[in-house]
Amino acid sequence: MSSGDLPLRRIDHVRFFVGNARQSAYFYRNAFGFDVLAYAGLETGLKDEAAYLVRQGAISFVLASPLSARHPEQARLALHGDGVQDIALEVDDVEAAYSEAVRRGAVGVRPPTSVEDADGVFISATILAYGDTTHTFLNRDRYGGWHAPGFRPLDPERYGPSTLRPVGLQAIDHIVANVAEGQMDVWVRFYEQVLGFSQLVHFDDKDISTEYSALMSKVVQDGRGRIRFPINEPAEGLRRSQIEEYLQFYGGPGVQHLALSTDDIVTTVRALRERDVTFLRVPASYYDLMPARVGEIEEDIHGLAELGILVDRDDEGYLLQIFTAPVEDRPTVFFEIIQRRGAQSFGKGNFKALFEAIEREQARRGTL
Ligand code: FE2
Repeated sequence: MSSGDLPLRRIDHVRFFVGNARQSAYFYRNAFGFDVLAYAGLETGLKDEAAYLVRQGAISFVLASPLSARHPEQARLALHGDGVQDIALEVDDVEAAYSEAVRRGAVGVRPPTSVEDADGVFISATILAYGDTTHTFLNRDRYGGWHAPGFRPLDPERYGPSTLRPVGLQAIDHIVANVAEGQMDVWVRFYEQVLGFSQLVHFDDKDISTEYSALMSKVVQDGRGRIRFPINEPAEGLRRSQIEEYLQFYGGPGVQHLALSTDDIVTTVRALRERDVTFLRVPASYYDLMPARVGEIEEDIHGLAELGILVDRDDEGYLLQIFTAPVEDRPTVFFEIIQRRGAQSFGKGNFKALFEAIEREQARRGTL
């Protein structure tokens, strides 16, 4: 490979490092409707951690917790609280992807490692991204087991099929990074140079500032447009921005939100509300202005208003989106639910209403 795109297939899974993976698995199952499929831990031969694989549609999360203070990553918990440790990318050739990424300037965390067990050969390697967030390259073309060596399917007696209404989440649409002031372009260049991504759109602080807080954001995506990573940095505002609040409570740069797609956001959000997922609300006036702002849409605006779903339009169509409150005690990681009807942008027209909603929450936390 000389330059340009690395042959990345897709986001394989996102690994969260959490204080109690067993209880997090219940949360993702009962609140978000994931199936808990596989487990790795003492019973499967792991010595230092327990991990659960949860899946919905094409979305796979691994929730992992250390079993002792000797775990090499245990310091993450005190520093970050629960959060995203790794965004794993499936590749054709792990060794080629890793050596090319390192040649282009990536910091290697773990060189290519091939693990062979009764289920075949599993190959992976890890590079460093923003903060201590990492990207693992993996390939399981010659691996027939569950997820990765060490994982075993869970006893269906323990996690039977859910009787709640299905949530209908389908795929990871994008994953957003928060980085420190002045670092956005550094990380845009990292994704361009190391992974061969290109920059998609650019919002500057005039687009997305509110009275108090502001941010700048650029989006990078892979050559096939399947992997999209917006990168935010705080911009000058009157008060502390939501990005600064995140950086303080996360203890540095990290994943701010994961956007999960659905093809029926009304049904998805109804199901999530029944499961007690908490969403940010915008004022009712948002819906008074909506018809003039976005024009004709297929959905009933009253239904959207009742659920707090936001709409934005671009040249290619429109999108519907809604944001959860942070899903841990620290005001850090949260989720976006998104349905695209043609639009390939990220809801710029909603940023102002949304940030004002976030700032009301910040004011309640005394962190504005
Ligand atoms: Fe987003």
